[in-house]
Amino acid sequence: MKIEETMVQYYAERAAEYERIYQKPERQDDLRELRRFVESAFLGRDVFEVACGTGYWTGVVAGSAASVLATDINDEVLAIARGKPIAPQRVSFRRAEAYSLQSGSQPCTGGLAAFWWSHIAKSRLREFLTSFHRVLAPGARVVFLDNVYVEGSSTPISRTDDAGNTYQLRTLNDGSAHEVLKNFPSEIELREAVRGIATNVRVEFLRYYWILSYVR
Ligand SMILES: C[S@@+](CC[C@H](N)C(=O)[O-])C[C@H]1O[C@@H](n2cnc3c(N)ncnc32)[C@H](O)[C@@H]1O
Repeated sequence: MKIEETMVQYYAERAAEYERIYQKPERQDDLRELRRFVESAFLGRDVFEVACGTGYWTGVVAGSAASVLATDINDEVLAIARGKPIAPQRVSFRRAEAYSLQSGSQPCTGGLAAFWWSHIAKSRLREFLTSFHRVLAPGARVVFLDNVYVEGSSTPISRTDDAGNTYQLRTLNDGSAHEVLKNFPSEIELREAVRGIATNVRVEFLRYYWILSYVR
């Protein structure tokens, strides 16, 4: 199985226990700041969310956005997200592959991907961004949130491949072990990744998370 397929399988199996990651006590201040950022970034916008998982951030965006189309490749996580009481008149969930997004009739004015960038192989970043930008209108506000590597809090990096991607070995509650691609980009790498396809680029590093935002 390719590493990307392994990751899809891992998140399907992890669906029920996924949101425990948001309960780590030392991360609560940073998470509050991320929530505030996301709420204000998408005020009144029509938002396309990539890799929405169990809908944790969908719920946050839905607090201020005009509408949210939240997508993920996994039916298992989408089933959990759909079961949440998240503004059903403004939010819809759909199965979609992040690398082959198709523009709908109405391009969105906001784009969000939380904890997804870190799972993209460096060689596929541009392919993903091209796909993402297809569903976004010119001038759309784009936000990525993801993890900073913090010794003692993050799962240790188990290996680095020839292209510079890093990996972690993760264990689920049933004892199964999974190797997951998980990159921890620097500010320079983030800026480089969107060079020429974004304006108003802003990168902020908190203690546990980073935020990349720009205008498409
Ligand atoms: C780390 S989780 C993030 C979930 C959610 N955004 C959050 O922050 O709570 C990564 C998500 O990416 C999804 N995923 C993996 N490969 C994908 C792909 N090729 N296209 C779309 N989603 C994918 C997984 O199913 C999983 O829900």
